[in-house]
Amino acid sequence: MIKVEQVSRSFRDKKVTVEALKKVTFEIEKGEVVGLLGENGAGKTTLLRMISTILEPSEGTIHIDGIDIHKQPMAIKSNIGVLFGSETGMYDRLTARENLTYFAQLYGMTKQETKARIEDLAKRFGMEDYLDRKVGGFSKGMRQKVTIARTLIHNPDIILLDEPTTGLDITSANMFRELIHSLRQEGKTIIFSSHIMDEVSQLCESIIMIHKGEMVYNGTAEDLYQEEQTRDLNFIFMSRLVRSAEH
Ligand SMILES: Nc1ncnc2c1ncn2[C@@H]1O[C@H](COP(=O)(O)OP(=O)(O)O)[C@@H](O)[C@H]1O
Ligand SMILES: [Mg+2]
Repeated sequence: MIKVEQVSRSFRDKKVTVEALKKVTFEIEKGEVVGLLGENGAGKTTLLRMISTILEPSEGTIHIDGIDIHKQPMAIKSNIGVLFGSETGMYDRLTARENLTYFAQLYGMTKQETKARIEDLAKRFGMEDYLDRKVGGFSKGMRQKVTIARTLIHNPDIILLDEPTTGLDITSANMFRELIHSLRQEGKTIIFSSHIMDEVSQLCESIIMIHKGEMVYNGTAEDLYQEEQTRDLNFIFMSRLVRSAEH
């Protein structure tokens, strides 16, 4: 279980302090698939960076299975897989297999484990044909598959995906949807951020909406539709923003 309590994060940008997140509190159960919705600059990446232990909160705590993740990051790191949409972090001069092997080694996986896991992921994502080609020449979709494989290399239970479909073509975006479905079936806990409402409404039972660093909704998609008397998530999102601005 992921427990985020009163988490705030500010950044000092020259003389100005940016409050990227303000007292955010929520809980996510094991096996839940959560959509993190918000406009550009809402604080999605900041939140995911904190849950992945990369960034410390200015205030508040995050616990995973009872462990304070910023006090004991090493206890939790190997159970988290992260993908940040903006960066692939691949070595262009290495092949896909070499890249994946490198990351597997960082997680302390054995040679045999690594080999088997790469074969498995390659099959799953249809990467067999280019597993031994250099990543430098890959299309965006191919590269994204390798990046997702990298996120899953150590078979983590918690998967954080930051705008994973941004910039992908339809085929790759569909592949991503199927992937979420299969990971859900494996019982993984998934949080993925997006500004694409349709994607979130198709894939997630739970929704966290943030606007200008504040959480404006946290609950099931179904409850939200009931509350708002519509299933049009785009409409709901916009009207929530308007209402939060009025307060
Ligand atoms: N390292 C940083 N330094 C200064 N400001 C930052 C930094 N990271 C994020 N911010 C600011 O925090 C806010 C939230 O950013 P971010 O979490 O990236 O939003 P999102 O991912 O929802 O687009 C923005 O105003 C952004 O400019
Ligand atoms: Mg972002």
